[in-house]
Amino acid sequence: MPVSQDLATTIRNSVDIVEIVSGYIPLTQRGKNFVGVCPFHDDHSPSMSVSKDKQIYKCFSCGAAGNVINFVMDYEHVSFIDALNILGEKCGIKVNSKSKISESNKFKALYEIFELSNKFYQNNLNTSMGLSAKEYLKKRNIDQNIIKEFGIGLSLIKNDLLSQLLIKKYAEEDIKKTGLILKTDYGYHDIYTHRIMFPIHDLNGRVVAFSGRIYEHTDNSKYINSMESPIFKKGEMLYHYHFAREECRLKKSVIVMEGFMDVIRASTIGIKNTVATMGTAITKNQANLIKRLSNNVILCFDGDSAGEKATLACANELISIGVTPKVIRLKDNLDPDEYILKYGKDAFLNEIDNALGFMDFKMLNLKNNKNMNNNTDVSRYIKEVIDSLNKIEDDILKEVTINKVSKETGVDKEFLKSKLEKHEYKEIKKPKLKEKKHFDKYQKAEVRLIFYMLKDKEVVKLYRKKITYMPTLKYRNLARIIDYYVKNNGDIVLADFLTFITDTDDYKTATEIISLNIKENYTKDEIIDYINVIKEYNIDSEKNRLKTLMEKETDPKKKIEIAQKILDLKVRGERND
Ligand code: UTP
Ligand code: MN
Repeated sequence: MPVSQDLATTIRNSVDIVEIVSGYIPLTQRGKNFVGVCPFHDDHSPSMSVSKDKQIYKCFSCGAAGNVINFVMDYEHVSFIDALNILGEKCGIKVNSKSKISESNKFKALYEIFELSNKFYQNNLNTSMGLSAKEYLKKRNIDQNIIKEFGIGLSLIKNDLLSQLLIKKYAEEDIKKTGLILKTDYGYHDIYTHRIMFPIHDLNGRVVAFSGRIYEHTDNSKYINSMESPIFKKGEMLYHYHFAREECRLKKSVIVMEGFMDVIRASTIGIKNTVATMGTAITKNQANLIKRLSNNVILCFDGDSAGEKATLACANELISIGVTPKVIRLKDNLDPDEYILKYGKDAFLNEIDNALGFMDFKMLNLKNNKNMNNNTDVSRYIKEVIDSLNKIEDDILKEVTINKVSKETGVDKEFLKSKLEKHEYKEIKKPKLKEKKHFDKYQKAEVRLIFYMLKDKEVVKLYRKKITYMPTLKYRNLARIIDYYVKNNGDIVLADFLTFITDTDDYKTATEIISLNIKENYTKDEIIDYINVIKEYNIDSEKNRLKTLMEKETDPKKKIEIAQKILDLKVRGERND
């Protein structure tokens, strides 16, 4: 864990979860707890309970649970560090976010080289040799403010950068790793010459790559991008991500574009809740990054047919993680940059306000190249719409779309509905409920034991003394973490423990157990009962192990020894100690 556990605990203890959560959603007091409508699922009646005593929240409906830090992370779509920053600000504790960079210290030189190169390129633009580049930027309506905001620079003549870096005494090894310098038969040389340089920043805002555009002549490669390096993985970042974050939060939406020039242009008219995919097919990782910025996603790709294809691909990736985006299709094959230049700010804002719902876009797209007077085409169209509706979770959207399709094709609504698969979202939820019902006796004991271990260190001590291991892997893992935590901290404070868990699977297991509707009070006898059930399992599996061992054993003396062990276990099981 990069930031110290202590700092997280201090911050958590300095804020009140009820106060913080009620800053996001209205809470009303009910008995000892506070309740509100859960922001993490489509909730209509208050399913979320916030406990002032325990300083945790849990939703009885969707199973979301955690402490105040988890709440801020999930609500704001931010990382752990950022959640600490947000909370730290509220209680006046400074989070030194530099500590998170410790992991990246081994790439310190790489970051420095990119930073230095960026300054070097920026400086070039202001020299007399940068006049024609400046002229080009001016022609494209990119003024000094934008040049500064986006760190735009210029690469000039061969081996300019190389000599600068060597003067600064950077190791050849590190210089090579950045990909800014290439080795050939004739030695090293700069990759970028005579190009306008656009720095590309990682998720934390550090320069990790460049894209260089030609400006004096035309050439096969309009842009040259830095090659991948240990600190630059194209599929794991989005252009402008770091800078867009706060703006996305304020505007409650994110606009996704293809090119960074589009993002830069949008910024000139004050639209900054934007990121760019940089012209490549979107990865799952990038889809998740987009989701972290906002659940309200607007895709605004180029107006040409390639842009339409990219829109579909990106939308599908987002839908697969539960986000149904809106879509803007710009006229005349324009990209956002060209559109804004040609039609201006108001027209573009109008496009944003009137973005199509994904299904409206999809329906238009499916009608391309189809003759809607031809029965075969119409039936193909209907099948394709139904296919795409089956991938979407939103019930209401399905209903609305079915109505529209029924109107435009004249096919009966109920018939269309009968072709829909059952609601996927509910199907995902069902196994969860089933699982609850189908807890076998061991799991039931495990879950209850852990539930109370999370409340009381005495239960943890009993677990430590009596139990060899839990039967179910995920509970075994969690119980061990709890045990370890109590050994180290002397006690269990659930809200702090939740921050201590680093593995997402373990965290999920913990929230699953916390949000179960199990009575808060318990007796020692009940605990002993659970322990005995689990011990019975431990003894049984040990017996089975010994039996197999005995069968394989050829030495009669040893066979007897093992038989005795099995007998001892039997007696122990019956005595239950
Ligand atoms: P576009 O060709 O749409 O670029 O490519 P653009 O944004 O309109 O750029 P201008 O207006 O001509 O300057 C979209 C994205 O694809 C990547 C770049 O990241 C660009 O932002 N691309 C494009 C390349 O990497 N190399 C290329 O040669 C072209
Ligand atoms: Mn363009």
